[in-house]
Amino acid sequence: MAYLTLLYQPLEDMGKRVADLQQAFVGLERAYSLLDEDPDVVERPNARPLAHARGAVGFRGVWFGYQPGVSVLEDVSFELAPGSFVGIAGTTGAGKTTLVSLLTRFYDPDAGRIEIDGVDLRDYRIADLRNQFAIVLQEPVLFSTTIAENIAYGRPGAGEEDLVSAARAANAHDFIAALPDGYRTQVGQRGMLLSGGERQRISLARAFLKDAPILIMDEPTSAVDFATEEAIIDAADRLAKGRTTLLITHRQNVQLRCERILRVERGRVAEGKPAAPSGIV
Ligand SMILES: Nc1ncnc2c1ncn2[C@@H]1O[C@H](COP(=O)(O)OP(=O)(O)OP(=O)(O)O)[C@@H](O)[C@H]1O
Ligand SMILES: [Mg+2]
Repeated sequence: MAYLTLLYQPLEDMGKRVADLQQAFVGLERAYSLLDEDPDVVERPNARPLAHARGAVGFRGVWFGYQPGVSVLEDVSFELAPGSFVGIAGTTGAGKTTLVSLLTRFYDPDAGRIEIDGVDLRDYRIADLRNQFAIVLQEPVLFSTTIAENIAYGRPGAGEEDLVSAARAANAHDFIAALPDGYRTQVGQRGMLLSGGERQRISLARAFLKDAPILIMDEPTSAVDFATEEAIIDAADRLAKGRTTLLITHRQNVQLRCERILRVERGRVAEGKPAAPSGIV
């Protein structure tokens, strides 16, 4: 009986873990609108490796639509220098998430090209390309395991010291240290035992640990209150240092932190100004 328990317990845990992982990826896919059949991004034979990009981003005459004849992005061109911090604004459904889904190559453009460090995304190995991005979403994807493992997911095999300094940088260390089990606290099914702001800070810690050259944040503060937003934006500012950062946000106070604003409107992308103060709109 004891043997059976010993044998089954880990298997059960593993099954649960796999189910959670699947759940999490469904969440991620939904966030990036990938519920359709596997999109046709294929790796070229002899695709080039990419260890650590400088982080220059170029969109050149990019056209894209999910369905033939219905374009979401039309002739989009812009350049981001390595290390720049750009806000992406625009009404709901304008194509902001689509823009970053193209940059991370979940889809390929119908026409035009997207480059990182002057090389077409389609010339890179896909796994290497995806390694260049740290992604922070509105609803962070957490696995039902410990806080430590959730952060370490950013860089498997990271030491405890790195983990703690990532958590500190993300304004997460203090709340984690105050928990009875600290970093060994179970976050519950999809992180449900934590508040939205706490989950977000764990996902920022994960991004710090990953240390990728390009950072994408898609509405990281729209699900949290004002006080929490401050802590998150403060950490996000620090995280953006030395990386090319694309921050999708509706919030004007957050847009004001960005060096540039790209406004997505009716398929076009233009240089813009931060939105009017929220008291007016
Ligand atoms: N997987 C998909 N299949 C078909 N159409 C899609 C898909 N994902 C998004 N769209 C459509 O593409 C357009 C742009 O969507 P997108 O998600 O990029 O907008 P968004 O600017 O991120 O909006 P929001 O501010 O609401 O997040 C919308 O009309 C949307 O309905
Ligand atoms: Mg979106």
